[in-house]
Amino acid sequence: MSDVVTTIKSSSNPDVAAAAAQFLSQVVIDSQALVLNGKQAHWHVRGANFIAVHELIDEIVEHAEDHADTAAERVVALGLPIDARVGTVAAKTTLPELPAGFQPAEVMVAVLVASIDALLVSVNKAITELGAIDAPSQDVAIQIARSLEKDRWFLFAHIATV
Ligand SMILES: [Fe+2]
Repeated sequence: MSDVVTTIKSSSNPDVAAAAAQFLSQVVIDSQALVLNGKQAHWHVRGANFIAVHELIDEIVEHAEDHADTAAERVVALGLPIDARVGTVAAKTTLPELPAGFQPAEVMVAVLVASIDALLVSVNKAITELGAIDAPSQDVAIQIARSLEKDRWFLFAHIATV
């Protein structure tokens, strides 16, 4: 039996870590914003299809939590910190404002679709920019994009006219 010597290091390449942090941080911030606004919408949606939209929004919130966690932990795994404190999320999110109080399902769904679209801009930028730098980080963004596009479809179907 031989001894295994492990070298502890935070990242194999500081440039890779910096790029991952740069582009995945916005994904984390916008995903956390979707968690907060999604819960607000889950509580305040109203209308004849209340229960379907109420439950669907909760699933989308759970997915957004997973996306934030996956993107944040990729950055931390490369050795850099993430700033997703509530003040930072509020200051830096690209998501649109969600109206306060009770709202018809059509309003909540439309704002959440626009919110997913804004998050997808951040995710697609990460996909584009990380492609030549770090495939595993790009893969994180690709998986998030695929999940978000499905959630967008499920939401948009409630307000689509055909
Ligand atoms: Fe709930």
